[in-house]
Amino acid sequence: MNQLQITLPDDWHLHLRDAESLKSTVPATARCFGRAIIMPNLQLPITNTEQAEAYKQRIVTNTPPSSTFTPLMTLYLTDNTPASEIKKAHNSGFVYGAKLYPAGATTNSDSGVTDVNKISSAIEAMEALGMPLLVHGEVTQTDIDIFDREAVFIDTILKPLKQKFPKLKLILEHITTEEAVRFIENSDNTVAATITAHHLLYNRNHMLVGGIKPHYYCLPILKRNRHQQALISAAISGNPKFFLGTDSAPHTQLAKESACGCAGCYTAPTAIELYAEVFDTHNALDKLEGFASFFGPDFYGLPRNTQTLTLIRKPWTVPASLDMAGETLIPLRANEELAWQIAN
Ligand code: NCD
Ligand code: ZN
Repeated sequence: MNQLQITLPDDWHLHLRDAESLKSTVPATARCFGRAIIMPNLQLPITNTEQAEAYKQRIVTNTPPSSTFTPLMTLYLTDNTPASEIKKAHNSGFVYGAKLYPAGATTNSDSGVTDVNKISSAIEAMEALGMPLLVHGEVTQTDIDIFDREAVFIDTILKPLKQKFPKLKLILEHITTEEAVRFIENSDNTVAATITAHHLLYNRNHMLVGGIKPHYYCLPILKRNRHQQALISAAISGNPKFFLGTDSAPHTQLAKESACGCAGCYTAPTAIELYAEVFDTHNALDKLEGFASFFGPDFYGLPRNTQTLTLIRKPWTVPASLDMAGETLIPLRANEELAWQIAN
């Protein structure tokens, strides 16, 4: 197959950052996605409805005029998020979920939740409203190995949480392990997961063999090859509990290539092309549309997009670097060839 037309996809997990950066990050996503769930982990996190509305406006201002791209906003949960704020956000009509960052787990998560028991009333409100809880699923205890943090989180935090709130709609974001795949498969239909392109394409060897390659460093960290294979099987399975979320997370070249490099891969400029490559490699291009365009809106209870996107098999080389707010950004796959591109 050399050409593929699919319903316009959406990105169910995206970091756009703020201010000048929006000038490049918003068009990069709007070029191939109809909607995106916007992560709230700005330097000053989006913890209430007013902040979400103002941030939405800044994103809309930076959306190319020809695009119908719609940002779907989220709230950043803290130990102090009241149930009333959840209700207000839900009633706003532009907030579609709330994000649980365990405090200290990842970029800009210092104001995150220190103990899920502290946010019981917020979660209870979300369960009642049918508002999805989006979860960064990693424990943060220093004695837990970084490669085990997702699996331990599932056993010690997620399973008890789901028992306490059985009807809660929950999305385990950017899953990276076989344990996460099994947890999702064995849960009921209130539970789903997003999968990034980089976790489908790479494992920890890509990051660590032959020298440390900081542009592959993201959180949750790339795992062993057998986990990568479990993620690929889940993504191409046609199981509607697994859908597309890029976790595209730009950090400048200087911030990545440093003695303490930031976590995050910038994939927006090549996102749907990377997923197409994975599905193609595994002879599953017929499963791409469900994963990229149907299962996300179905889970969120939103209509599927009506527009289409056409991909063609035609090699192109990803730029060596890009600009973000006057600084240099190295996208994933910089200077490398991609097999698929979007037809004009
Ligand atoms: C994300 C970021 O940079 O905001 N980084 C990452 O490695 N994925 C945060 C996150 O999603 O964990
Ligand atoms: Zn993320």
